[in-house]
Amino acid sequence: MSNKCKIAVLVSGGGTNLQALIDAQQNGIIKSGNIELVISNKEGAYALERAAKADIKTAVVKKTTQEEFEARIIALLEENEIDVIVLAGFMCILSENFTSRYPKRILNVHPSLIPSFCGAGFYGLHVHEAALGYGVKVTGATVHFVNEIPDGGEIIMQKAVYIEDGDTPEVLQKRVMEEAEWKILPASVEKVCKDILSEA
Ligand code: GAR
Repeated sequence: MSNKCKIAVLVSGGGTNLQALIDAQQNGIIKSGNIELVISNKEGAYALERAAKADIKTAVVKKTTQEEFEARIIALLEENEIDVIVLAGFMCILSENFTSRYPKRILNVHPSLIPSFCGAGFYGLHVHEAALGYGVKVTGATVHFVNEIPDGGEIIMQKAVYIEDGDTPEVLQKRVMEEAEWKILPASVEKVCKDILSEA
């Protein structure tokens, strides 16, 4: 391994978490890794433009069968000698066949305090709708390792965010991103990369 971990970021949409990672790399919060590749399952995802603006290589892999989809992603990861995979708003579930190849090498950011409002069906705005619907007063974000159980891998970092009177799912989503996701995702990526380098 070189003196930095090679990172691939998997995205599906706007890519504000990808932007937080790019900014963290530029301002030295991420120093043990380098983002080498961004893969989107959606053509035209704004995240791809963010990557291109930062001179990061991009690829689009559209969902076909699970097996073929994952095989194409694995081929790209291998070609680019990727060490660490970050799911940043990646709205596809990866099978055990995929996750078992990369134990403690895949990170995901989820917009709630796991084990609340997580697992299959809890993604994007739905998570915040569920939190407001339940009436919790505190929510937040979690970064965790990815294993075969959706949102079930070991927790790396969490940060709490207070719900305020009059919150809508959109308002809450933005606050959770600003106060929690954009901070703990870069910090977790740096921690994992640093730990990998120190083990090598
Ligand atoms: C983020 O809030 C992320 O935590 C969530 O989708 C949003 C993507 O935004 N991910 C999930 O719900 C995964 N279960 P972004 O594309 O602007 O980073």
